[in-house]
Amino acid sequence: MIQSEEQKKKEKQHKKEKKTAQERLDELLDSGSWTEYQQFTAGSEQDKSYPNDGVIIGVGTIHGVKVCVYAQDFTVAGGSLGKIHAQKIAWIMDLAYDMNAPIIGLNDSGGARIQEGIEALSGYGSIFYRNATYSGVIPQISLIVGPCAGGAVYSPALTDFIFMVEKTSQMFITGPKVVQAVTGSASCPEELGGAAMHATISGNAHVISQTEEQLFQQVRALICAWKTVQTSDVIAPNVKQMDYLLPDDSKKGYDSKKVICGIVDVDSFYEIHEKFARNIVVGFAKLNGEPIGIIATNPKVKAGCIDVDASDKAARFVRFCDAFGHPLLVLEDVSGFMPGVDQEQAGLIRHGAKIIYAFATATVPRITVVTRKAYGGAFVALNSKAIGADFVFAWPASEISVIGPEGASSIIYAKEIHESANPEQTKKEKMDAYRKQYASIYKAAEVGLIDDIISPSETRERLIQSFALVVNKKRSLPGRKHGNIPL
Ligand code: HXC
Repeated sequence: MIQSEEQKKKEKQHKKEKKTAQERLDELLDSGSWTEYQQFTAGSEQDKSYPNDGVIIGVGTIHGVKVCVYAQDFTVAGGSLGKIHAQKIAWIMDLAYDMNAPIIGLNDSGGARIQEGIEALSGYGSIFYRNATYSGVIPQISLIVGPCAGGAVYSPALTDFIFMVEKTSQMFITGPKVVQAVTGSASCPEELGGAAMHATISGNAHVISQTEEQLFQQVRALICAWKTVQTSDVIAPNVKQMDYLLPDDSKKGYDSKKVICGIVDVDSFYEIHEKFARNIVVGFAKLNGEPIGIIATNPKVKAGCIDVDASDKAARFVRFCDAFGHPLLVLEDVSGFMPGVDQEQAGLIRHGAKIIYAFATATVPRITVVTRKAYGGAFVALNSKAIGADFVFAWPASEISVIGPEGASSIIYAKEIHESANPEQTKKEKMDAYRKQYASIYKAAEVGLIDDIISPSETRERLIQSFALVVNKKRSLPGRKHGNIPL
């Protein structure tokens, strides 16, 4: 049987474990919900032979939520972007803005259509312009389901969330061949721009999956995470076990995801950036059916210290939640910002400042729970009352102080420790004394830095009650063109 050219291209796509644009839409969207627009487009003046000009645009639903979608079709000129192709994407983005609906872009493209020359470049510009203009107005989600190279990467980079598939999707500014030509060193595409690299090292990818099918399920779950659930459908976690969750040894790490799951509705936690900067955990969840955003330091990784990557991760998440009205819950067990030459030289001051800026300017309801310790600048930065938290609670064994006991005793008791016959023993005694005198949670409660001391098992109920109190909170920032977040 003679295969058509179109059929051959479809097969080539399937052999690479990639789906066609239409197959992808069928999996991403609710069955029967798709309406396509401008399907008779066929390329620009120079070349009229490209069906749909290599991109499908339209409107569908995900779990009943209206979404606008564009899907680049690699079987048509490698999904390359020409003038009409760009015009279609810009049009569907404008429609998403007018509809106040999320825009989802499926990127599978060889980049600017070479035959169309610089007009294709200008097409990218028109998309970037809309990515930036609609930022914080409509959620923007990018699925990288094939190549995304050169300047084309800046459209996904300007969106809120990037999803990638392991082994079949790549993002890089400069591809392996050009890297080799310019620098003389070979690099493998996965190392240069694969999903695993972007999920763990660069932080460009927020969610990755092993297959396209899984990816579409994850996108559907994200849209679902932003929806309210009826309280009659809520399954509450077993809160009793929360009182036994923390290790007896206060220096031992534990996984803050266990704390999150002991507070929020069962199976509602949706983690963002799971493999990147694991010393802080961020994600969406539901509390008694209401969607919230969670930021939790993670004592299991780097003792939960905040470093450059953790700062970027947390600050960006806070900005998304604030822009789209998701109340914020901070779970805090943090000994401070990460000390050391590496971090200082990497700009921890500038990056850490993003967290303060993001929280201080967030006007959504926001609550902090100190679960074990909160020392120094990290206590202030992570949604303290001083920078506008609505409520700050602490678990009974928590410590809050200007600096951790170890650092404090090495400064204020340095002389006694140095002159002692048994410096180790003296240091331990001084640390205990410091804990009692300066770091006790009751000291913080006495001066109103925290609003109440609550048990782990009552945390869920107190949070549900407290968020309900501030659900209609009205705060606004001083009028200005825009602030200048430390970038
Ligand atoms: C026109 C293109 C194209 C492009 C691919 N095709 N990229 N046509 N412009 N940019 C066409 C091919 O000619 C081929 O057409 C079909 O798409 C499939 O491509 P293949 O090469 O056969 O596929 P594959 O082997 O899978 O390789 C995919 C690829 C490779 C890795 C993406 O095609 C590639 O390297 N393309 C060029 C990538 C690139 O350098 N882009 C940068 C452009 S500049 P037929 O008819 O044979 O099926 C740019 C700047 C943007 O993007 C700046 C924004 C500000």
